[in-house]
Parts: sequence; C-alpha cells; structure tokens
Amino acid sequence: MTESTTPADLPLPGRSDEDLPGHWLLARMGKRVLRPGGLELTRKMLRDAGLTGADVIELAPGLGKTAADILDAGPKSYVGIEADPEAVALTEKVIGRRGRVVTADASSTGLDDDSGDVVVGEAMLTMQSDRGKDAIIGEAFRVLRPGGRYAIHELALEPDSLSDAQKTQIRQALARSIKVNARPLTEAEWREHLVAAGFEIEKVRFAPMALLQPRRVVADEGPLRSLKIVGNVLRNGDARRRIVGMRRVFRQYRRELAAIEIVARKPDKS
Ligand SMILES: C[S@@+](CC[C@H](N)C(=O)[O-])C[C@H]1O[C@@H](n2cnc3c(N)ncnc32)[C@H](O)[C@@H]1O
Repeated sequence: MTESTTPADLPLPGRSDEDLPGHWLLARMGKRVLRPGGLELTRKMLRDAGLTGADVIELAPGLGKTAADILDAGPKSYVGIEADPEAVALTEKVIGRRGRVVTADASSTGLDDDSGDVVVGEAMLTMQSDRGKDAIIGEAFRVLRPGGRYAIHELALEPDSLSDAQKTQIRQALARSIKVNARPLTEAEWREHLVAAGFEIEKVRFAPMALLQPRRVVADEGPLRSLKIVGNVLRNGDARRRIVGMRRVFRQYRRELAAIEIVARKPDKS
C-alpha cells in the first residue's frame, strides 16, 4: 500500500489510492461532480423532477454537491440518505441547518411510507447488483407519496440490443478500472426495473458519458478547480495511473456508455 500524498483538505485522507473506489479517488483529487452526465444533466433532471415546495429525499448525496442545487430550488424539506459516514459529514457541512442527512443504506431509509414528493438518486444504482437496485427502487416507491417522482441519473449501455457477452465484457472492464462493481443497464433494462416496482416512466434523457474529458471537467468544476485537480493528479503517481486506466476504459467503450436520466412517477391512488 502506498502512502497518500493527498492534501488534508481533500476527502478520505486515510485510504490508499490503489484500491479506493474510482469516485472517491476522483473526490480525493478535488473532483466534486461524480456522475456520468455532469452538472448539465443533473440540472435538467432536477428541473424535470419539480423541487420547489416539495419534500425531497436524496439517496447517496456523496459530497453534497447536488444537495446544494436541490436546496437552491426551494424545497419544503431535504433529507439525505448516505451509507458512507465521511460522505454524511461532508454533505452535512454543505447543507448546514437547511436539512438533515441520515447514515443509512438507501434500501432501508427508516423514513415513513408516503413521506416524500421527490426522491433523487445519482450514480448510486449503477453500483448495485440487480437485487440491490430493486431493493433501493422499491424503497423509493415506498417513501414517495402517490404522484411523487423518482429522478435518477445513472450509467446506461447502448444500444438495447447489446448481447449479454458484450454487457459482461464492459461491466468487467469497468469493475477492474474503477474498483466498483459497476453494473450499468440498457435503457430498456432501467425502465423494466422501475416499472416492475410500480413506477410509470415520465421522462428519459441521455447525455454523453464524459466524466473525465477535459471539456466536461472544466464545465463541471470550473477552470480554477480543474487546474487544482490536474496538479493533484500530476503529483500523485498511483492516482495518475488509476485515472489514466479509467479514462482508457471510458474511451474504449465510448459508443456503448452513456449517462441516462429517468424521471418515474408513483401513480396516483385510483
Ligand atoms: C459515485 S458516488 C455519487 C455521489 C453523488 N450522488 C454524486 O452524484 O455526486 C456514489 C455514492 O453512493 C453512496 N452509496 C452507494 N451505495 C449506497 C447505498 N446502498 N445506500 C446509500 N448510499 C450509497 C456512496 O457512499 C457514495 O457517496
């Protein structure tokens, strides 16, 4: 295990760069937007979900970046549900007294039935097994009021006709490079999981999967933070090797990988 040379103000100073999940490695280098479609798709998704005056539950807020955007939209309330205690502390710092963050698994939030108008979750379902995805989607359905919206921003595979062998190859390459058991789905598969839980699909959008492309990094992080990130990566050999490997896999499968937004609705009671 190599000692990290990470500055103390970056998250997760105690963990080694070699085996850190890709999103935490990028966070440690200073990256704050950790989802495949970037800020642009997040903002479209939040607009589609309709947050003003709503009771909003965010699953897996991570560093709290989307939490800040949600609060800017003027919800009635905000609750974050995050499994990682360090991420809970970071999100709490961002939201202050404007909401609360619970340390819990998104499949078992402890929230009441029918207690939210909107559930938001980004870059968190992709990393679950099929059964884990269904448990979280089922929990989102349970905590939403009838008519409530579940907005997700995840990684998709294209086209729907990819063979099982191609999907397995891509998933294995992603898992090896980002060190997370990433299991992106085709649009048809994402729809199937949501519909099986009882949701109706309201909106689907796509964006390029450009997480590590320079233009996207500058758009998401701004020029100053982008320079900081580049400096951190250049100073840290282990992190650099990992990030180059992640970029290689994203480029290799650029035709098959995309960011997807889906807003699904819990039907009104008839
Ligand atoms: C790739 S990061 C995305 C963070 C944030 N949503 C964003 O888009 O910037 C994944 C986050 O999901 C959280 N997470 C993963 N599985 C979870 C689960 N089952 N329940 C709650 N949080 C989970 C991780 O701790 C991490 O904060």
